[in-house]
Amino acid sequence: MAETPLSDLEAILLVGGQGTRLRPLTLGTPKPLLPTAGVPFLAHQLARARSFGVGRIVFATSYRAEMFSEAFGDGSAFGLSIEYMTEETPLGTGGAIRNAAEALTCGPDAPVLVLNGDILSGHDIGDQVARHVSRGAAVTLHLTEVDDPSRFGCVPTDEEGRVTAFLEKTPNPVTNLINAGCYVFTRSVIDSIPAGRVVSVERETFPGLIEDGALVLGYADASYWLDVGTPAAFVKGSRDLVLGRLASPALPGPPGDFLALPGAMISPEAKVSGGSVVGARAVVESGARITGSVLGDDCVVHADAEVVDSVVGIGARVSSGTVLRDVVIGDGAVVGAGNELLAGSRVWPGVVLPECAVRFSSDV
Ligand code: GTP
Repeated sequence: MAETPLSDLEAILLVGGQGTRLRPLTLGTPKPLLPTAGVPFLAHQLARARSFGVGRIVFATSYRAEMFSEAFGDGSAFGLSIEYMTEETPLGTGGAIRNAAEALTCGPDAPVLVLNGDILSGHDIGDQVARHVSRGAAVTLHLTEVDDPSRFGCVPTDEEGRVTAFLEKTPNPVTNLINAGCYVFTRSVIDSIPAGRVVSVERETFPGLIEDGALVLGYADASYWLDVGTPAAFVKGSRDLVLGRLASPALPGPPGDFLALPGAMISPEAKVSGGSVVGARAVVESGARITGSVLGDDCVVHADAEVVDSVVGIGARVSSGTVLRDVVIGDGAVVGAGNELLAGSRVWPGVVLPECAVRFSSDV
């Protein structure tokens, strides 16, 4: 296989999913564009890919496709060249890769990096590509070890790193290694994925390659890894970036206890900490306590409210004395005084939750 200098490496970014698990945040904004540590989530991935020498990226879009080109244009502001390939109807992960490959310029033997658009990873992409090239693999998958693999499909490998199977979710997984959503494909392998129909790489392409005896290689490592597909994971990703647990060239400013965007007004009597972000022009009043949370632009957290590990949407209002823990408040929603919302609660955009009368009746 021809050696490809990393500076010539092309990438495909999968960003066409609907992000259903992150609703209501993803009703108006696709998951990869959600503000994360002060910038769109993808900005962190693009900056990392670029730091490994990737120069040209094809976005595989579908859901709200136009929002990606509005945010990233031709990529020049990010030191990249970006192309967009849009599916009329979503083609699944494999179909999306096949469709996006029409915009690649590399030859059949070149490695192509493929990234899921919802992963934060600290692994060495350059080393993954080098391993792929030196072993002459068809595909090399980044694998990561998780504590509880029963929530995922698992990916066993032999002693030489060859992937032996793609196993569906099971209560008794044979390994803790799971698919980490970053692949290196040899270009000709992408061209062999059927065109114009829905294909899943996890359920069809990878198992098929293994069955045909192709070399599907695992690249296992123990660096930082997070799939930001759920609200809890999304806020964790944002706070880990702000705190510097995962270094990102796209973080606007040095890592620290919190990040305040331009125009944010935080009372000196408020306490903001734990990797929180306070959005542009957002207001945090006296006595409010914000920990490990993402406050959207133009939102207001009134006096003495407590917001922990939560997302407060753009322009939302959190009234005095409210407690929010592990919740998502949609854009423009209002949480009336005295409410206590706990794990997993989601308030849809624009909804107004009235004052909590029970709490207030005991105060008078
Ligand atoms: P959920 O609906 O919450 O599961 O999220 P999702 O839609 O993002 O699905 P999932 O997390 O399984 O997707 C993994 C990655 O593949 C994400 O970056 C998605 O944007 C992307 N993706 C999933 N399906 C498609 C598709 O049909 N087309 C394209 N272009 N990308 C896809």
